[in-house]
Amino acid sequence: MTRQTQTATSALPWWKTATGYQIYPRSFCDSNGDGIGDIAGIISKLDYLRDLGVGFIWLSPVYDSPMVDNGYDISNYRDIAPEFGTLADMDRLIVEARARGIGIVMDLVVNHCSSAHDWFQAALKDPKAPEHDYFIWREQGKTNGPPTDDMSYFGGSMWEWVPALGKYYLHQFAKEQPDLNWQNPALRQAIYNMMNWWFDRGIAGFRMDVIDLIGKDVDAGVFAEGPDLHPFLQEMHRETLAGRDVLTVGESWAVSPKTALLYCGQERGELDMVFQFSHVLAGFHPEHGKWGDVPFDPVAFKQTFFDWQEVLAEDGWNALFLSNHDLPRAVSKYGDDGALRLRSAKLLALAIHLMKGTPFIYQGEEIAMTNARFSTMDQFRDVETFGQYEAALAAGLTREEFIKGANRNGRDNARTPMQWEDRAQAGFTDGTPWIDVNPNYRQINAKTDRADPAGVFSFYQSLTELRRCLPVVAIGAFRAFAKSHPNVMAYTRMLDGEKLSVIANITGETVVFDVPQKMQQTGRCLLFTVAERQALGATVTLAPYEGFAILQR
Ligand code: GLC
Ligand code: CA
Repeated sequence: MTRQTQTATSALPWWKTATGYQIYPRSFCDSNGDGIGDIAGIISKLDYLRDLGVGFIWLSPVYDSPMVDNGYDISNYRDIAPEFGTLADMDRLIVEARARGIGIVMDLVVNHCSSAHDWFQAALKDPKAPEHDYFIWREQGKTNGPPTDDMSYFGGSMWEWVPALGKYYLHQFAKEQPDLNWQNPALRQAIYNMMNWWFDRGIAGFRMDVIDLIGKDVDAGVFAEGPDLHPFLQEMHRETLAGRDVLTVGESWAVSPKTALLYCGQERGELDMVFQFSHVLAGFHPEHGKWGDVPFDPVAFKQTFFDWQEVLAEDGWNALFLSNHDLPRAVSKYGDDGALRLRSAKLLALAIHLMKGTPFIYQGEEIAMTNARFSTMDQFRDVETFGQYEAALAAGLTREEFIKGANRNGRDNARTPMQWEDRAQAGFTDGTPWIDVNPNYRQINAKTDRADPAGVFSFYQSLTELRRCLPVVAIGAFRAFAKSHPNVMAYTRMLDGEKLSVIANITGETVVFDVPQKMQQTGRCLLFTVAERQALGATVTLAPYEGFAILQR
C-alpha cells in the first residue's frame, strides 16, 4: 500500500485498523500429546496468524483453574494452568507475538472466580475473614429454601447452601463459580492490582467476561446492567486503563443500542467497545432459548448490525463478530455448511468485516470449520449443556430434540479441535483429544484450504489487509441500503470522496436486486465470492451467497 494511506490511519488507535483472532487454548494446538491445547502450541502457530494478518489475539482464559468451565473458573489470577504451561511460557508468548506485530488480549473473568480460589476457601473457613465479604451471602428464604427463585445460567438455583455456615452464596453460573461481591472496595482493589500486574507483563488489553453483571443489586433482583456497573467501570478505568495504549472489549448479553454508549462513549472513560449479541438472540427460540431453534431470518440479521452501525456512527466503536467459543460455527448457523460452504463462509466474512468496527475471527472460522454433529450425550463436554439438559427435558423437549438443539447452538460446536491437516486427529494432537475432532477434517483443514488460492483463508487475508491499509474500510462513514430486502445486505462506506459499495446475498437463493441509485458505480472490485464485477448498474442478478465490494475513487 502507499505511504499516503499509511499516514492517514496512523493517527488512529491501533485497534481501529486491526483484526482480532480468538484462541480457545484447549482446542487450538497441543504441543505435548496430552490431548489438550497449550501455550507452546499457540507459539508454534504464530507465523500462521501473522500470515492471516491479525493485529491481536483474544486468548480465552489460561489462568490456573479446576476447569469446571474450561478456565472461566479461575483459582489463581496470577498463574497459568499447568496443562497450558507456565508463566514463563506466557511471557514468551507475549514477546513472540509482539515480534510479529500481534498483541495479546487476555480474558478478564471477574464477575466470579473459582470455588477453589484462596479467597473462597478463606471465606468458607472463617466468616470473620476479610475474604468472606468478597462473596455474596444470604440467609434462607421464608420457606427454608434458597433466598430467591433465580436460576443459574448453567441450570439449578443461583444459590448454594453451605451447611457449616448456615448460609447460601450466589453463583450465576456453576456452583463452582461463586459471584464476587463488587460492593467490597478491597476486592475491587485486588482486581485492579491484578490487572496492572498483567499490563506490566506486556499484554495488549482485556476482553471482559460478562462484565454487565458486576454492578448487580441482588436484593432488587437486578443482575445485568445493575446500578453500579458504570461507576465500577469508570473506577476500573481510572485505576488501571487510563494512560495505557490498550484495547478493552466488554462482553454484554444485556447491552442494547439504547445502553451501548454508556459503555463505550469516548468521554465516558469506560471501555473501547462491547460484544453485543442481538444477532445471536434473534436466533433463539421464544420458549426454549438456544436449545430450540428458529429459522434464519436474514432481515432481522441485517437489521441488528445496521442498528448498531447507526448508533455508534459518531461515538463509541463496534466489535464485529459472528462466532466465538460460546456460539455455533458461523457457516453452520448463518450460511450453508454443505455444498456452498466455501462460498457462504466468504460471503459472511465479507458482509461483517467491511462494516465499521473491529472484527474478530474465531479460530477455525478462517477455514470455514463447521458445527460438530454429536449423536450421544457422552460426546458433549460443556458444563452448560449438561446443566441445561435436565431442565430442557422437564420443559418438554425429548432427548433427541435436545441433542439436535445442542448440535445447532451448543457451545461444544465451536470447541472441537482446530483442524490443521489431513492426518490423525487433524494434526491437533499426537494423543487423544479432550473432545472429539470433527470427522470432516479430511476435507476441512488449514493445510488444504491454504493450498487453494480461492480458499477461505486467503479471503480472510484480504479482509485483514484491507482494514489495515484502506482508511475507508477502517473509518469510512457507514450507510445501509434496502434495509427490508429479504435476501441482500447492502451498504456503502464513504471517506474523502471514496465510496466502497458492498453487496451481499446472505441467502441460498438466486435474486435480482434493484441497486439503489446511490450505490450504482464503477470502480475497482476489491473482493468477490463468485465473480469479479467492476460496475454496478440499475439491477444485478446475484447467485446464492454471491457478494462483492467495489471501490470508487
Ligand atoms: C462468558 C464466557 C463463557 C462462560 C461464562 C461464565 O459468557 O464467554 O464461556 O461460561 O461467561 O464465565
Ligand atoms: Ca498439551
